[in-house]
Amino acid sequence: MTKITAAITGVSGYVPEYVLTNKELETMVETNDEWIVTRTGIKERRILKGEGLGTSYMCNIAVKDLLTKTNTQPEEVDLLICATTTPDMVFPATANLICEAVGAKNAFGYDLQAACSGFIFALATGSRFIESGRYKKVIIVGADKMSSIINYKDRTTCIIFGDGGGAVMLEPNTEGLGILDDILKSDGSGASFLNMKAGGSRYPASAETLARNEHTVYQEGTTVFKFAVKGMADVAAEVMERNNLTGDDIAWLVPHQANKRIIDATAARMSIGSEKVMMNIDRYGNTTSGTIPLCLWDYESKLKKGDNIILAAFGGGFTWGSLYVKWAYDPVQA
Ligand SMILES: CC(C)(COP(=O)(O)OP(=O)(O)OC[C@H]1O[C@@H](n2cnc3c(N)ncnc32)[C@H](O)[C@@H]1OP(=O)(O)O)[C@@H](O)C(=O)NCCC(=O)NCCS
Repeated sequence: MTKITAAITGVSGYVPEYVLTNKELETMVETNDEWIVTRTGIKERRILKGEGLGTSYMCNIAVKDLLTKTNTQPEEVDLLICATTTPDMVFPATANLICEAVGAKNAFGYDLQAACSGFIFALATGSRFIESGRYKKVIIVGADKMSSIINYKDRTTCIIFGDGGGAVMLEPNTEGLGILDDILKSDGSGASFLNMKAGGSRYPASAETLARNEHTVYQEGTTVFKFAVKGMADVAAEVMERNNLTGDDIAWLVPHQANKRIIDATAARMSIGSEKVMMNIDRYGNTTSGTIPLCLWDYESKLKKGDNIILAAFGGGFTWGSLYVKWAYDPVQA
């Protein structure tokens, strides 16, 4: 029997219009453009403004565009997985809201939460549905409205995060293209270094949790940085070794955009030059589940059928992982 793999057959993305620059952050907290650029690589990030607009607002736009680009009727979609850490509501799942908004009436949907590794965890998970032979069109969304859980008085976190996201279509392939391997890891001992303490079942929202600022991201940056450098580089190197790939074989690294220095360390470990590294952290900052699909969206016109691509991410949990993907299509001529 011919082996079925899950190929990415289209990419789409969305970032909100409002640009929060380092200059504007200088008016909000004790920081400066030079520090932010040298320590993180970030120059600006996007913020979703507007009463009642949640993560699904951005996803709906990206998914509608994806359906158009891939010539897909919404009724044809079998499954939609939404990776997000900032769902519209605790329940129902944001995936459900997206399916309703785009008219994917025959799809089932659910959310997946793995912080900054959410998109690659969802991509690996979604690929299994395709590989089973039972599902033909699976949409993987990765998006976050990080501005909804950031304390804009905390200079160690508010400079990093932004809003945005993207989506990819997965379809069966029998030419050996698509998602070929994945290594995914979790380590709950990292929970204390990067979390949002309240608003869940352990510490439900109360006047006290609000007063203690426990509804925003808490991060011990230096500890997370050390784990991220090692975790992301280790797992990217491991997936390459397992598939007999050297730096020369790799067309692109698609890294989670948390800090330019973490990305540079991963590329160095893989022995690839910066010209092969997708980077948009300067424009969007860290959009959590959104970074990897936003990179694919930005760089789609440069990708060629057969390109060997390594995706790698690290995030809260801790969670981390890497995927080996053989790109399935050439750029569409305008
Ligand atoms: C958050 C992060 C950018 C901070 O960079 P860093 O080099 O570790 O900086 P430190 O926290 O050691 O702080 C160095 C100094 O800069 C100061 N500083 C921190 N934030 C600052 C800011 N926005 N502007 C100016 N100074 C700042 C600190 O107070 C500290 O000052 P001190 O030396 O007088 O105490 C970095 O740790 C990081 O990127 N961490 C990982 C983030 C990540 O990957 N998350 C993954 C999951 S998404």
